[in-house]
Amino acid sequence: MTYEPILNDEGATASPSPYPGWMLDDEGAAYEQEVSGHFLTAMSSLAATVCVVAAASPSGDRFGITATAVCSLSTDPPQLVACVNRSSSMAKALGETGWFSVSILSGEQESVAATFAGRTGLQGSDRFDDQSWSRHTTGTPVLGGASAVCVCHVSNSLHQASHLVVIGRVLDVLLPDGPPPAPLMYHQRRFTTVNAAMFADHSAREGQS
Ligand SMILES: Cc1cc2nc3c(=O)[nH]c(=O)nc-3n(C[C@H](O)[C@H](O)[C@H](O)COP(=O)(O)O)c2cc1C
Repeated sequence: MTYEPILNDEGATASPSPYPGWMLDDEGAAYEQEVSGHFLTAMSSLAATVCVVAAASPSGDRFGITATAVCSLSTDPPQLVACVNRSSSMAKALGETGWFSVSILSGEQESVAATFAGRTGLQGSDRFDDQSWSRHTTGTPVLGGASAVCVCHVSNSLHQASHLVVIGRVLDVLLPDGPPPAPLMYHQRRFTTVNAAMFADHSAREGQS
């Protein structure tokens, strides 16, 4: 399919429409709503490992959110990407100090995920009452019992609609003693994990090679 630029009366290129060219503006809004709904359904099939992204304010107050929009960016230097809603409680703290942590949750930490997704009603520092939380030397909250924790400093960030795309330079990594636990996953709008027996078998085979 070829793309024909839309020209205005003066022959200049009109601002590009996000809708297919044959669509009228009011049809466009309805179409956009439909795509939005289908997009949510599509993304619910994108099984993802659940993380908590956390930061402390300059005065030491802790904030954190459950997040699946986290991925590895580069290994040299080690960097990751996290997408954080700009209206979330931790976005401000993150902007103030630049330090944040990404705790990759284990299959047994569903209650932590629920807490940091706001499902228990707890806000701010109250979400950190669980004894498994401690502070890294940078002051950043880190979660014990997680599959891994990356302590990062913001190297770049981009405002994109409702979200902040944060690139974090990984300056410390905390790993559990022994084999990593099975991960906590989110799929089809539900928390789940990989089959623990299969995971243990796979880890054992990795250890042998
Ligand atoms: C499985 C799951 C994944 C989520 N992923 C993200 C994410 O990647 N980024 C984000 O900003 N919010 C994400 N959220 C939403 C936040 O966890 C939620 O809005 C949180 O309560 C925000 O904290 P606040 O109430 O302190 O602002 C996710 C929620 C769930 C349940």
